[in-house]
Amino acid sequence: MSVDTTGATKQETEVAHEAARRRTFAVISHPDAGKSTLTEALALHSAAISSAGAVHGKGDRRGVTSDWMEMEQDRGISITSAALRIDYDDRVLNLLDTPGHADFSEDTYRVLSAVDCAIMLLDSAKGLEPQTLKLFDVCRARKMPVITFVNKWDRPGREPLELLDEIEQRIGLRPTPLNWPVGIAGDFRGLVDRRSGTYTKMTRTPGGARKAIEEVLDPDRAAEVELDAWTQAQEEIELLEALGADFDAESFMAGESSPVLFGAALSNFGVGQLLEAIVGLAPAPSAKVDEKDEPRAVETPFSGQVFKMQANMDKNHRDRMAFVRVSSGRFERGMVLTHAVTGRPFATKYTQAVFGADRSTIDTAFPGDVIALVNAQALSVGDTLYDGPKVIYPPIPSFAPEHFVVARAKDAGKYKQFQRGIAQLDAEGVVQVLTSDVRGEQAPVLAAVGPLQFDVVKHRMEQEFRSPIDVSPLDYSVARRTDAESAPVLHGLSGAEVLRRRSDDELLVLVHNKWRLKVIERDHPSLWMEALLAGG
Ligand code: G4P
Repeated sequence: MSVDTTGATKQETEVAHEAARRRTFAVISHPDAGKSTLTEALALHSAAISSAGAVHGKGDRRGVTSDWMEMEQDRGISITSAALRIDYDDRVLNLLDTPGHADFSEDTYRVLSAVDCAIMLLDSAKGLEPQTLKLFDVCRARKMPVITFVNKWDRPGREPLELLDEIEQRIGLRPTPLNWPVGIAGDFRGLVDRRSGTYTKMTRTPGGARKAIEEVLDPDRAAEVELDAWTQAQEEIELLEALGADFDAESFMAGESSPVLFGAALSNFGVGQLLEAIVGLAPAPSAKVDEKDEPRAVETPFSGQVFKMQANMDKNHRDRMAFVRVSSGRFERGMVLTHAVTGRPFATKYTQAVFGADRSTIDTAFPGDVIALVNAQALSVGDTLYDGPKVIYPPIPSFAPEHFVVARAKDAGKYKQFQRGIAQLDAEGVVQVLTSDVRGEQAPVLAAVGPLQFDVVKHRMEQEFRSPIDVSPLDYSVARRTDAESAPVLHGLSGAEVLRRRSDDELLVLVHNKWRLKVIERDHPSLWMEALLAGG
């Protein structure tokens, strides 16, 4: 074993170097804000995908995620989330997809447990929208650094100062613009870099399939070219300075302030600046804290945590795939790891990197990377795998469900299969399973963040567990944690029902809707109810 002057082995030095060049992040946004377009624009700057059209075709809307399951193909949407690797300027950017639209589910939230930074993508005309707010809640709970990108600046939108004000007022995140737009939304001329004062004039290229033409001008020349628009931008920049809205590394890393960039993903305006911000400001993977609160340094032997399970991705095999975020060490295909919960060995002969629609075999991975382990029947969301010294990472929290159904076996004779299937899907974190004495074990309540999860359950119960089920929706949309004292009172109220979550024995009260909840809170102030993470 070769050791350098600091006492680190050659492998430790290599792992530290590889970790330092990685940035692992996700985009949080509301549907239509331009996530696919931005992903495409980011990829355009990289060697990973040479033409923008390869990621996001107009008519044939296949995103960076692929249509693995038949069900997905039927519906023309994508349930799985994948990681996109972008090589940029000697850095490796791992962009993890956060499924949106109808496929918004617990997986969308869980992806955020596997990244070190989030890009909050806003539509300049719409500002903060519901799905963005929910995802931001999860980032806030993790104190995650967030970079804000205000998109669609090429078309009419809101005043930049008004958008900053909304961010600060509604979510308490202090915006610190890195660049500032010259020209109003809809008449976008270019961006001033607030630190260097240089002006990048943007010239639109048709279709957005090529990089925008960017011309760098000094301030005097910019004033001559842009006239009033320049003067207005300068006044606004002075105002920002007076307000002290300057980038601050410490509060950014604590998730309290957010560097803001303006641009238009469709025309690739400002996308280069965003890439520079990700590389320059977003943190590289660092030591992850285990369940005993002890950090596991990135250079130590391999460890990683499963943040997502995917079943039946390969039509020809009924396999299960586990997506693992590497936390420490060097991963090599073929390694035999230890599955922390059971202590059993886990062979990694068939490991894949997930890249767009392709699944290619990978041989090595480093902290910040995502690997996909096939034949992962034994693994569940949150599980730790390691090599060398034992480590167990804290579980990934469960999130506030908003959709509820009652599940029943179609064939009562298959009750054993039914129970086994439901228990398995619960353990995997596909849905949360709730029960009560009133409802009985034969008719558990399934709870999910997104309704599509119930289709996944139906499909798997039939195909994998050979116990087709019927599901009937329940008229609840809010869940709160409660305790044994408040439960009996809550259970007796109209529009509310108390159940126990099987995975952790928590008592949850389900309520018809937010307004009903407000009425209960007003009429019964002594009852204990606590919001669950996100969406609550
Ligand atoms: P999503 O993944 O967040 O749902 O959004 P997506 O990228 O699909 O973008 C939603 C719509 O917004 C698309 O238009 C896209 O072209 C447009 N868009 C994204 N970024 C910009 C931008 O910077 N400027 C402008 N003007 N438009 C932008 P669409 O008509 O719905 O789809 P398409 O036919 O263009 O694919």
